[in-house]
Amino acid sequence: MERSPLTDNPRLVVISNRVAVPKARGAAGAQGGLAGALHAALKDREGLWFGWSGEESESGRTGNIDTQTNDGVTTATIDLSQRDIEEYYNGYANSTLWPLFHDRLDLAKFERETAKGYERVNERFAELAAPLIEDDDVVWVHDYHLIPLGERLRSRGLKNRIGFFLHIPWPATRLFVSLPYHERLVRTMLHYDLVGFQTREWLDSFLHYCRTELGAQVDEENGSVTLDGRTTLARAYPIGIDWDHFSKLGETGEARNAQQRMMASTRRRISMIGVDRLDYSKGIPERIDGIGRFFDREPERIRDLVFVQIAPPSREDVQSYQEIRETLEQKCGQINGARSEVDMVPIRYVNRGYSHEELFGFFRASKIGLVTPLRDGMNLVAKEYVAAQDPEDPGVLILSSFAGAALQLQDAVLVNPHSPDDIAHAIRKALDMPLDERKARYEKMVASVRDDNVQAWTADFLRDLG
Ligand code: F6P
Repeated sequence: MERSPLTDNPRLVVISNRVAVPKARGAAGAQGGLAGALHAALKDREGLWFGWSGEESESGRTGNIDTQTNDGVTTATIDLSQRDIEEYYNGYANSTLWPLFHDRLDLAKFERETAKGYERVNERFAELAAPLIEDDDVVWVHDYHLIPLGERLRSRGLKNRIGFFLHIPWPATRLFVSLPYHERLVRTMLHYDLVGFQTREWLDSFLHYCRTELGAQVDEENGSVTLDGRTTLARAYPIGIDWDHFSKLGETGEARNAQQRMMASTRRRISMIGVDRLDYSKGIPERIDGIGRFFDREPERIRDLVFVQIAPPSREDVQSYQEIRETLEQKCGQINGARSEVDMVPIRYVNRGYSHEELFGFFRASKIGLVTPLRDGMNLVAKEYVAAQDPEDPGVLILSSFAGAALQLQDAVLVNPHSPDDIAHAIRKALDMPLDERKARYEKMVASVRDDNVQAWTADFLRDLG
């Protein structure tokens, strides 16, 4: 493949589970910030993005690579067999690692077969991606689906700079050691040149594990781990949004229409919004309990408020995701049954996704943004909510202290997402907050959202990798 003529930088090869190709199921959009973030990084370096198409392969076609160039980015995607999807994606990635890394040991399943499937698919990724990688390329692997991939690529002789970024939290050592063969998994990470985490907290947990469980030599100051004569840098790089792109969405007709639709339908009531993939880590049922507590405490204010929860379904073949959907439907139904009037429903629960333009409009029309995950690597919805506000009349962000974003957005109203009382109190505080205070908080938050953006994140990571 030809070297990028646009820049002196080496070509960037990104490898992740999802790839934002127009035809890929679950590509860039409301599903998560990763897709949008990577697209921006690759565009600058005429890069290559390798990963799963999101499709199940017809039998016998598992080795095909579908290559396309769109908008300056080349994508190379592969289909996976039904068994691979079941064991690697639904199984080990989303029924073992995801719950464990989000402190939900109660939901984590430890099955030898899915662990083997995870290793098999990582090997498959290495086998198919390695021939596409040239000597000077910088390789950047993403997220918990592909932790061992760097080591698999090395075993095929790759000497390139290879980095890894974890988009989700890294659990405390005491929890992490519940994972069978945890040592084996972490040892593979030490084949990367650089390992990145969203926050200092997850980085510290990782370093603690390496020191106490692997007996590695850890330099906390410099952020490095040395084991068996090899040194890996380990540092925190908080991801941001594509500020230039996102903030311009407000000028589109789609965003304006969405804002108008929301305002017209809520009329004199203040709208409060939540936008999350339907995932138990997002704390949506707990949020509904907090809203219910607010209504119990201040029944006279029910007519002042409407809560809109947008929750596109996610990972629907995994049992814990089917359960969270049922729980949420019940909770919303209970509150609406008890609190609605013929002309007023307090909670609108919408089980579908919207475009980024529409979300911009909904955020702008909402005077309160509720982002209350129980545990979250970063949470870009919190940053998008801030970016969509009117500087002259900004809304209030209520944010979980347990989201990575809370470290940067200290001027949000921070809450313990497990406590309905805390959430109820925060809603009252947000409703009563004077304009001056809203503006002061917004100005500090928006400066961080604007400056610590996805371009800065990419530049920081690639500088340390390169
Ligand atoms: O942020 C974690 C993450 O897994 C991303 O990698 C992904 O874009 C998002 O959540 C959505 O999840 P999935 O790819 O399973 O639909």
